[in-house]
Amino acid sequence: MNIPYFRPSIGTEEKERVRAVLDSGWLTSGTAVAEFETKFAEFIGVPHAVALNSCTAGLHLSLDAVGVRAGDAVLVPTMTFGATAAVVRHLGGRPILVDCDPETLTMDPSALQSAIENWRSDSAIKAVIPMHYGGQMADMNRVSNIAAKHSLSVIEDAAHALPASFKDSDGAWKSVGTTSPLASFSFYANKCITTGEGGMVTSLDSDLADRVRTMSLHGLSKSAWTRFENKGSWYYDIVEPGYKYNLTDLAAAIGIAQLGKANEFCARRTEIARGYTQQLAGCAEWIETPRVRSDRKSSWHIYGIRLNLDQLTIDRAEFIQKLRGRGITCSVHWMPLHLHPYYRTQYRYQESDFPVASREWMRMLSLPIFPSMTDSEVDYICTSVLEVAEDHRVRKIFPVRQEGIPMHQNGAHGD
Ligand SMILES: Cc1ncc(COP(=O)(O)O)c(C=O)c1O
Repeated sequence: MNIPYFRPSIGTEEKERVRAVLDSGWLTSGTAVAEFETKFAEFIGVPHAVALNSCTAGLHLSLDAVGVRAGDAVLVPTMTFGATAAVVRHLGGRPILVDCDPETLTMDPSALQSAIENWRSDSAIKAVIPMHYGGQMADMNRVSNIAAKHSLSVIEDAAHALPASFKDSDGAWKSVGTTSPLASFSFYANKCITTGEGGMVTSLDSDLADRVRTMSLHGLSKSAWTRFENKGSWYYDIVEPGYKYNLTDLAAAIGIAQLGKANEFCARRTEIARGYTQQLAGCAEWIETPRVRSDRKSSWHIYGIRLNLDQLTIDRAEFIQKLRGRGITCSVHWMPLHLHPYYRTQYRYQESDFPVASREWMRMLSLPIFPSMTDSEVDYICTSVLEVAEDHRVRKIFPVRQEGIPMHQNGAHGD
């Protein structure tokens, strides 16, 4: 069997919608983008959505919208993809890395509190970016409380979280993006829904959404669509030196079709995750399976297992190679930012500054998970993981029965 890490689910609706855009004569941001934005905002349950060409662009523009400027500091998880912190640097800001919770791998609220209390610098902390690891939301109740106490803007890195929700302190379920001023989603090729490349910022605030929109298109007062197609005039003002981050109608056409299937995709991912967890329970001594807290619902973008390395005779890299040898492609999410050369040298971060992320990442491994995976693919992966673990588990030393011959070598142990 050959199982890729991810296989996109593109059906006839995506193709028909793309064809309609190709035939329409308008390829860049126009009516398809507007429709995608409206439907996305409805799906999340927020008043505003701005389509962009990546989640990275969304995080960048969100920081700009809340007023992060050169010299300002922003709290960012160390356990995240590089984009979450790079956007702070794009604005000339200073990322302050925060350790993760050992179970969920999302930003640890206690570590967040300490990072704020221990910050000794002239740079003012302006914002915090909780990231929803693998689709399980960060502890938004505690993160939002800490942010409110210190007047920080909260920007959700929701790249993985479509859909996802958490229970607020009153016990009500809240969707991702509905409790923070801004959230940024990804439609990268292997995300919960895809447009190839793409992203969306959602917002509760019309001024913030307007700023994101303006800065996404050169800082122009009007988009091309409103100038040329919508009975407008050619005239525009440049109100700021903005960026070029708009989504095309071609991509939005795929996005509309994918959004219509987002709940169905999530249901299948959830089923696959359940299958993995049930079958891998057989090797609990060597492998830990991921847990979703009772106050969260995950999109299951990532199914990350953790190897108990002290119970295995091979390391994570060899484990991945063994699975690859059986046709299964895995990934690792992620080597934490503080271990990367840029963050290590620029900010002198040490492994010991982030004990949880430093310890956990060494044993993390993401198994393939995507809606079109078949049950037999799930079974094959589980069997393979169990066999690799069994073949490479640390053997117990048994008492010697005959001189020089341990029990398990003379057949007594059955292996
Ligand atoms: C947590 C996280 N944030 C942000 C991004 C950036 O997303 P995009 O590729 O859409 O810019 C990614 C991409 O994988 C991610 O995993």
